[in-house]
Amino acid sequence: MQNITTTLKKLFYLWRRSQVPVKQPIKISRIDNLIIFLVCILISIISSYKLLLISPLNIADIFSWFLTFIEILISSGVLILVSKKENPTISSRQIFLIITLLLAVQVTKLALASTISPLSMIIPPALIISQGMGSITALAWVSIASLIWPDPEIVINNNLFFILLVCASIVSLLGGRIRSRAQLLQLSIFVPIGSFLSQWILIGKDKISIINNQDFVLANGDIFSDSLLLAIVMLFTILFIPIFESIFGLLTKARLLELADKEKPLIRRLSLEAPGTFEHTLLICGLAEEATRMIGGDIDLIKTGALYHDVGKLHAPNWFIENQDGSKNPHDELDDPIKSAEVLQAHVDEGLKFARKNRLPKLIANFIPEHQGTLKMGYFFQKAKEKNLDINEYYFRYKGPIPQSKETAILMLADGCEAALRAMNINASDKEALETISNIIYSRQKDGQLDDSNLSKGEIFLIKRAFLNVWKRIRHRRIQYPTSKNNTFS
Ligand SMILES: [Fe+2]
Ligand SMILES: [Fe+2]
Repeated sequence: MQNITTTLKKLFYLWRRSQVPVKQPIKISRIDNLIIFLVCILISIISSYKLLLISPLNIADIFSWFLTFIEILISSGVLILVSKKENPTISSRQIFLIITLLLAVQVTKLALASTISPLSMIIPPALIISQGMGSITALAWVSIASLIWPDPEIVINNNLFFILLVCASIVSLLGGRIRSRAQLLQLSIFVPIGSFLSQWILIGKDKISIINNQDFVLANGDIFSDSLLLAIVMLFTILFIPIFESIFGLLTKARLLELADKEKPLIRRLSLEAPGTFEHTLLICGLAEEATRMIGGDIDLIKTGALYHDVGKLHAPNWFIENQDGSKNPHDELDDPIKSAEVLQAHVDEGLKFARKNRLPKLIANFIPEHQGTLKMGYFFQKAKEKNLDINEYYFRYKGPIPQSKETAILMLADGCEAALRAMNINASDKEALETISNIIYSRQKDGQLDDSNLSKGEIFLIKRAFLNVWKRIRHRRIQYPTSKNNTFS
């Protein structure tokens, strides 16, 4: 009996260890929640009030209006929940963008339903949402925006409704993956062409009047005009996406790749003024990218975040060992461990200032404090203890916060392993390298640095293997190839 209890306890313990910790969602203030709720109420009123304009009005009509009102309110709530699930770090501004776009579409439907095709009303906002908040949120938005039509008298052709859903779903799915502005332009050309051809096949050739129509673009129902208007609105949307990025703090793939350009002034400065830190950054990019690929994380995000994680060292490059190239160490001259710890902490504080000055998105700026977490500056703590045994550890820990995402946690682990792997003997075996990596990762785990990161045990195992693979590549590069006088080929 005791054996069974012990086995059950062990199994329960193993199950708990294998579970991913539940992440705390970002807190949204009461005022923001109230504003969001009021906008949802407004959407529900706009989308349902026409049901109350029937005369004479009886109880059944009021009941039907009430049901529609509640249905739309719940749909808006579900949309917010889906967006929060897909983006755990979504801000109130971004939620506000999603519901404001829904409100704008409902108002446009009321005001311009007879002039503008539904394709041009629903597809462009879906592009913005998929780019900024992901495909699932965009799909949820499309389904709610397409299903609720405020005016029951406007009946959409079934075929047009089908084409609208297919085109909007394609834009939502591709929009979340597109990695360059050029691909966005291609999408804004091919989707209208696709909608034109499908309308031609499903709705009819007789709905084209290219030459005779006076309202060339705003001729609702004419399939050429509808597709042309869709192309124009999509092109304008693409032009305005950078403005949405800065106002609502959206981080699109295209923006991430632009920021990862090594010719950006801040990164150029890092390579010129702190070449050691720049080299360290490049190696970390390799380690972090491989690990993120292994666990299926956001590679573009971590590559860009890694590039900027130590920009704060620009405030005093020669105070960091990688930039000292054998010259004298200013920390030795200072001979004050607490002051040295302050210089180390300053690379985080100054980094955040650089991030603000260069308008880096929040998700990228998060890498700056979170890659150090609340780690202990062991070397200076030991030095301080040699002078005063009662010294408080608090002065020798970074201010944090600890990594709040898988990506920032991987960067912390890569940051810890980089120097050790670079310093490793070229003849070291894979087993020795793996042991070094495991020890570094275990020390951070034990210190509680990965507690909020959502990394599971299995993912940590994969990260170790990824770092080992990168180490093998580094070792391979460092092995000198045998050359001879006669060997002139290659
Ligand atoms: Fe750092
Ligand atoms: Fe670093």
